[in-house]
Amino acid sequence: MRLKDKVAIITGAGSGIGKATAEKFSAEGAIVVVADLKDEVIEPVVTSLNQHGGKAIGLSVDVTSSKDVQQLIAKTVELYGQLDIVVNNAGITQDAQLLKMTEEQFDKVMNVNVKGVFHVGQAAAKVMKEQQNGVILNASSVVGTFGNFGQTNYAASKWGVNGMTKTWARELGRYNIRVNAVAPGFISTAMVNKMPEKVLTMMKEKALLNRLGKPEDVANGYAFLASDDAAFITGTILSVDGGVTL
Ligand code: NAI
Repeated sequence: MRLKDKVAIITGAGSGIGKATAEKFSAEGAIVVVADLKDEVIEPVVTSLNQHGGKAIGLSVDVTSSKDVQQLIAKTVELYGQLDIVVNNAGITQDAQLLKMTEEQFDKVMNVNVKGVFHVGQAAAKVMKEQQNGVILNASSVVGTFGNFGQTNYAASKWGVNGMTKTWARELGRYNIRVNAVAPGFISTAMVNKMPEKVLTMMKEKALLNRLGKPEDVANGYAFLASDDAAFITGTILSVDGGVTL
């Protein structure tokens, strides 16, 4: 119960890594706000968390909209009087090689993966500064350090996330706000499973642990960084990648 009674917003918690993180945080005692685009994906997660003894609610949000994000944060504070943790997990891919990538593909990914993180991070930091306490966790990727074939937009966005993580750690430490990121390798979720079979096989072979990661592997990283076990850790990018980058 490392997160007992902590109030945590997790964006993109309707599926994949975000959903696993919501489950882990809930098991650790957190009050979880499941934030995602659509009620259809939010409600089953909230129902399942509460059936397993958790305290969860769902709020729909498009992280690219600052108005939506302001409402998400305001509603959470109105309901619980505090905001202890945000996990900026919502993210998308729109893959194409550089020579074929459209401006629309580039903008879409930057809007969700960079601007969305900015919106949520900024709105959360205002509340956390008042509290003089808080944890902000961002979804990076191995691709944010090493690049990846066909992912100009996505790699740029995750480099951006790393930059914001380190900048915010510098700016917000004085308010007792810790800021870290998790950089997953290749994790078996909808985002990765839509890749061609031969690419997935190659990814498994490249990982020193010889498998794709599970969403739970990444959730464990977030739970550690959110907890007081990481009380003196800020500005770090934690690799959860099975050694794929070694
Ligand atoms: P996913 O596609 O399973 O889930 C992403 C969730 O974000 C979805 O529920 C989606 O509805 C939500 N979302 C998308 N746009 C949104 C928006 N504008 N506002 C609110 N919610 C939105 O993805 P997955 O694989 O679970 O990835 C989660 C995060 O982890 C992403 O940031 C991704 O870049 C990162 N990541 C994933 C890796 C993987 O191998 N699956 C590897 C490295 C990083």
